[in-house]
Amino acid sequence: MSISGTVPPAGASGEPKLTLYNGSTGTGRRVTVRDLALAKQRGERWPMLTAYDAMTAGVFDEAGIPVLLVGDSAADNHLGYSNTVPVTVEELITLSAAVVRGTSRSLIVADLPFGSYQSSPRQALETGTRFLKEAGVGAVKLEGGRRVVHQVEALVQAGIPVMAHIGLTPQSVNVLGGYRVQGRGDEEAERLLADAKALEAAGAFAVVLELVPAELAQRVTELLHIPTVGIGAGAGCDAQVQVWTDMAGMTPGNAPKHAKKYADMRGVLTEAARAYAKDVVSGAFPTAENSFH
Ligand code: KIV
Repeated sequence: MSISGTVPPAGASGEPKLTLYNGSTGTGRRVTVRDLALAKQRGERWPMLTAYDAMTAGVFDEAGIPVLLVGDSAADNHLGYSNTVPVTVEELITLSAAVVRGTSRSLIVADLPFGSYQSSPRQALETGTRFLKEAGVGAVKLEGGRRVVHQVEALVQAGIPVMAHIGLTPQSVNVLGGYRVQGRGDEEAERLLADAKALEAAGAFAVVLELVPAELAQRVTELLHIPTVGIGAGAGCDAQVQVWTDMAGMTPGNAPKHAKKYADMRGVLTEAARAYAKDVVSGAFPTAENSFH
């Protein structure tokens, strides 16, 4: 059952059909924020993944992921930083441009990194404009509730679609004192609901809910007309987002509780690298087939 109580449309195999993606494939264009609004009206859930490079993004685009996020999680999952705080606008623009070049159908959303939008609506507009002009993304994402509504308004009024992000906002990890569930207790829950409503009123086209109790995420989803995108926020959201390295089993160590590991990419790559090394040492690679004369 979908969140609105209707059964999602089924494909020939009886599997739920990814109509959002198929719709965009059929028209030969990228998914738009309007497509996402219509999906919410239909009660159709959709998947979102992070992507940080052209080749991986191309795989996800072909696999039918309608929205890809060049998250600032690139900092710790791609660039080797220990959290999202240090990543720069230049670094994320380079990665975003690669993801745009590697895809043709997914809507590409880029994170505005820490320090690139908090000072003022003008700063947010200048940074957001760079992502659209230099990287070619279709939308930007920023973290925060009522404290960033003026930034959201400025971006949307200038023609830049904004995905909001509340609950756990990793850029504020130093203030939050760690990566903890947010919105527990009546007071915190009311604050989160008020943030969500304010962001919708400011013009955001979707809102990420990170590490929020499932019941609260469900309430936000029912309250808002724009889609909610959950990560560690239960099954009641309109969409789900995962960091691709968690989803595909590339992240070292245990995946976070909110993630599901759909493959063992780390294991597969390790085995491939070991087998290659062994073949080079033994002389089994290259063969005549791999050589030129
Ligand atoms: O940067 C990121 O990957 C994110 C998602 C976790 C939503 O913001």
